[in-house]
Amino acid sequence: MDKAKRKAIIAGNWKMNKTPKEATALLNAITPLVKDADCEVIACVPYVDLAAAIEATAGTNVKIGAENCHWAESGAFTGEISTGMLKEIGVEYVVLGHSERRQYFGETDETVNKRTKAALAAGLKPIVCVGELLWERECDITEEVIARQIKLDLWDVTEEELKNVVIAYEPVWAIGTGKTATSDQAEEVCAFIRAQLAKLYNQDAADAVTIQYGGSMNDGNADELLSKTNVDGGLIGGASLVAEKFAAIVKAASK
Ligand code: PGA
Repeated sequence: MDKAKRKAIIAGNWKMNKTPKEATALLNAITPLVKDADCEVIACVPYVDLAAAIEATAGTNVKIGAENCHWAESGAFTGEISTGMLKEIGVEYVVLGHSERRQYFGETDETVNKRTKAALAAGLKPIVCVGELLWERECDITEEVIARQIKLDLWDVTEEELKNVVIAYEPVWAIGTGKTATSDQAEEVCAFIRAQLAKLYNQDAADAVTIQYGGSMNDGNADELLSKTNVDGGLIGGASLVAEKFAAIVKAASK
């Protein structure tokens, strides 16, 4: 399948930034700039911003995502948010397995898998993040790390469910560091991810999956990264907090 047939997706990952009022203001600045986008545009925002974000983007082409979710439907999990809670207010996407969750909050491939299964069962579309640490790249085990994450994070996800999964390749050394993977490095790993998906499912199923690159993607390097065959979009941290920069990335993906 050629790249043009896959859905290009640009998603902002706001992380722990913006209050609800600030979220409304930022989205009010973003929505007019991206209204003609020829790609899917998503803003993944903190839990307390979700309601304001959904209101601010009603009737626009911007979709809203959460930054995590729990796997249980309800119960004694103080501080957690369920998929049903997200669904009920109109959330469509959810970022799972982000490296900051893995690094600071004890996220493992097992819990990423549980969250992914739960999100899919609830009708949410997970953006599953994978990526190697700098040390792992230096030890030349990037492919082993990625193969393991893909296999475990998607364990028991059916081919039908895979249609609603987005994969984000985010080399951990490139996140928030200003150090971007070269477009060739991004392409190499995104192509490797697709090959793994083909092994686990089949080539047609793999060809249909949107694979994003994330890690210091910005308005200056998006064109080059998105020109690569297997880079179908971006998961954008820092640059998603500045309306003009985020809009420029959306424009690059719309070509
Ligand atoms: P960054 O973050 O664009 O600020 O590097 C990307 C991400 O963590 O998703």
